[in-house]
Amino acid sequence: LEAVKIGLLGLGTVGSGVVRVLSRNNEEIARRAGRAINIVRAATRDLSVRRDCDLGGIALTDRAQDVIDDPEIDIVVELIGGTGIAREMVIRAIDQSKHVVTANKALIALHGNEIFARASERGVTVAFEAAVGGGIPVIKAIREALAGNRIEWLAGIINGTGNFILSEMRDKGRDFEDVLSEAQSLGYAEADPTFDVEGIDAAHKLTILASIAFGIPLQFDKVYTEGITRITREDVQYAAELGYRIKHLGIARRREHGIELRVHPTLIPHRRLIANVDGVMNAVLVRADAVGPTLYYGPGAGAEPTASAVVADLVDVTRALTVDPNNRVPHLAFQPDALIDVPV
Ligand code: HSE
Repeated sequence: LEAVKIGLLGLGTVGSGVVRVLSRNNEEIARRAGRAINIVRAATRDLSVRRDCDLGGIALTDRAQDVIDDPEIDIVVELIGGTGIAREMVIRAIDQSKHVVTANKALIALHGNEIFARASERGVTVAFEAAVGGGIPVIKAIREALAGNRIEWLAGIINGTGNFILSEMRDKGRDFEDVLSEAQSLGYAEADPTFDVEGIDAAHKLTILASIAFGIPLQFDKVYTEGITRITREDVQYAAELGYRIKHLGIARRREHGIELRVHPTLIPHRRLIANVDGVMNAVLVRADAVGPTLYYGPGAGAEPTASAVVADLVDVTRALTVDPNNRVPHLAFQPDALIDVPV
């Protein structure tokens, strides 16, 4: 079978990670996907920047539309971030009946209802495992592995930067600002790091998790959102002395009249598993009726953990393309017609 051809939008931290992972593991990936997966074109804003990956064999451009409009491209990977150009480009790709893989949580949380409806009309998939929990396969877990359950609630540490800051403040007494700059240099933080520390990034992710767990539309504006900017080193250390950890959680819970969505710092007794999730690690605890509690843990940010999830989506879409002559992969897409509007 001919290789599946990928067009990559964005060659930043995650984009370079995707190039590295696909090339390093290319044989195993091809075996699992049923055919080779090759990046043939990539768009980047600044062509002169040196990348942390080998771009041999990839045609570069500074115009994202050149990648999308290339008739050879089967799947577009959107790693631009934000909701401006990224949104335009994802819609353009869908309108050309191309499948899309994205790590963009803001885009899915804010425009996912529109994007999925359009993708469904066109019979294409928009896959977004990397949008929540970095390398943790939490979307697949909730949508696929827990598909037989009624989910009661979920709670998670879903911002790596924030968790890294709180952990370093507690363990090493470091300053908030100092740890935040380190998180930025490690490639964990958002382009605008206020999204991390004000809870907005976590609220985007919670919106997505809740939509999948409870079958509700994406409703970012219904999330109560509070960040970690008011937490001091003293707060973190006093909490530790009293046997607690301060953790920033995203919580979605089924209530009598709808689903409650909130993101804020919490005090958790130090013996709890989730209290011991430190650094850039994320964890999502899901309580479901048949299985009971399950916990998903792993690196929540960073180049290769996020690339791991992007590549998994590429394998899924490729596999489905290989077995389905009409290129329809409905089981991968979030199903907009299955939504019920739950007042919150
Ligand atoms: N800025 C995000 C975080 C990246 O720190 O969790 C992963 O979504």
